[in-house]
Amino acid sequence: MTIKEAIRERHSVRQYKDIAIKAEDKEKLEASIKECNAESGLHLQLICDEPECFDTLFAHYGKFTNAKNYIAIVGPKSKENLDELGGYYGERLVLEAQTLGLNTCWVAGSYGKGKCRAEVADGEKLVCVISIGYGEKTGHAHKSKPADKLCNVPESQRPEWFKEGLEAAILAPTAINQQRFLVSLEGDTPVITAKMGPMTKIDLGIVKYNFEAASGHKCK
Ligand SMILES: Cc1cc2nc3c(=O)[nH]c(=O)nc-3n(C[C@H](O)[C@H](O)[C@H](O)COP(=O)(O)O)c2cc1C
Repeated sequence: MTIKEAIRERHSVRQYKDIAIKAEDKEKLEASIKECNAESGLHLQLICDEPECFDTLFAHYGKFTNAKNYIAIVGPKSKENLDELGGYYGERLVLEAQTLGLNTCWVAGSYGKGKCRAEVADGEKLVCVISIGYGEKTGHAHKSKPADKLCNVPESQRPEWFKEGLEAAILAPTAINQQRFLVSLEGDTPVITAKMGPMTKIDLGIVKYNFEAASGHKCK
């Protein structure tokens, strides 16, 4: 599966099969997490076979079932752009999971923060988690705002690579599907900015990763 296929096929999945993540998949995820941490200075962690984090009223209300594995997005509070960085590297792992046949859901609200088994050292913050497992189903495409509401570059002036990036940005998961971002172009550089609102900085990192992975162009 290519990265673009992973972007198109990824949807939030909250109901999982009651089976453990295969050892080979776990190894690949652990290796990617190590790479992400080395590159970013984050402290991302894969936690397996720990159902308590999703054993809360909120999680049941959100219809999570057999959610026993998660990636904890943790990092130093001193990083000014911690939420954005967490979104960016978390999405890299989400797409890798998709290529391995795993399903995911970003979760910032409907989990038990106090029950999360991640190691959060002094000076670190738990930004959110990503539940991960083999889905009962593959999920479905989210409703989207029209491209013209998410991008201020007129269609006729969008280069081919930019169109690919924009499509991937539109397919990106955002908290409560809010899509509070704007994609623009400064010369040849794609620029993505977050609007005001809760969790829009995490969303921004996610959207930037999708754009870059599909277009091959680094965003500002
Ligand atoms: C930062 C962030 C936080 C989220 N928090 C939750 C959550 O607490 N509970 C939940 O059920 N879904 C949560 N989601 C999933 C979104 O509802 C979902 O991504 C959005 O509706 C778009 O759907 P899709 O992921 O299937 O494309 C979150 C997504 C993001 C990006």
